[in-house]
Amino acid sequence: MTTIMDGKQVSLHLREKLKEQVTDFRQRTGITPGLAVILVGKDPASAVYVRNKHRACEEVGIRSDVYTLSEDTDEATLLSLLKRLNEDASVHGILVQLPLPAGISEQAVIRTIRPEKDVDAFHPENVGKILLGNYDFLPCTPAGVMELLRYYDIRPEGKECVVIGRSNIVGKPQALLLTEANATVTLCHSRTKNLAEITKRADILVVAIGRPRFLTEDMVKEGAVVIDVGINRLPDGKLCGDVDFAAVAPHTSAITPVPGGVGPMTITMLLQNTLRAAERATSCR
Ligand code: GUN
Repeated sequence: MTTIMDGKQVSLHLREKLKEQVTDFRQRTGITPGLAVILVGKDPASAVYVRNKHRACEEVGIRSDVYTLSEDTDEATLLSLLKRLNEDASVHGILVQLPLPAGISEQAVIRTIRPEKDVDAFHPENVGKILLGNYDFLPCTPAGVMELLRYYDIRPEGKECVVIGRSNIVGKPQALLLTEANATVTLCHSRTKNLAEITKRADILVVAIGRPRFLTEDMVKEGAVVIDVGINRLPDGKLCGDVDFAAVAPHTSAITPVPGGVGPMTITMLLQNTLRAAERATSCR
């Protein structure tokens, strides 16, 4: 029997709880948690993600201010907006949707956001804290994956975990979080040799490579747990993951669908981080 891990359902459950926590926080402090989301340019996928983040904030009672900047925005303009938001006490979290247009340095942008408002956990200070195991925020997608595993009582401890993809946003921090959870972790990427040999060892396989239906049934051990982080748009407009779901699912004990798997969990973790940022800012006053 294969369990389809329903990220939408788990998210609904977590967001109900979060809504209560936000209400409680507002009643205690008189403060509404606030998130600033910045979208630069016209990337259609980014526009959809930003809209979904905004809606999710509104649903749980977090104020979300979306700043939409044109494709030709220069780095100095973006950095000065970030500095203004850093100083704005009503803004507890700041998120700049990636990727950015060519000509704007992602690293310069990430470093400009104050670490205590960095709800993506991309700032070097936050990355370092995660590496050392004493963090304030976890990056949303890998944290969402861990939460999904927890919900379905899938325990990484002692397991062989394989992550495919070494991005700063997903692959590298995912490997770190699984390591923290006492798994034995292998991080694979585009230059890995004999990939299928390695992936077939995995009890838990996380695929974040950004290639539609990359993972096929011959790469999966019978009964493995498969987590699909990919969101790819096909020429017909439909979404698909990095896993060939129809072929792979029958061989797994649990698998995430796309859409409706990891995606909603990522946004839920962002909401949690924003509330946490507001709580920390308030307790530090
Ligand atoms: N682009 C793709 N995923 C993410 C994310 O988690 N945060 C931001 N800021 N941009 C992204």
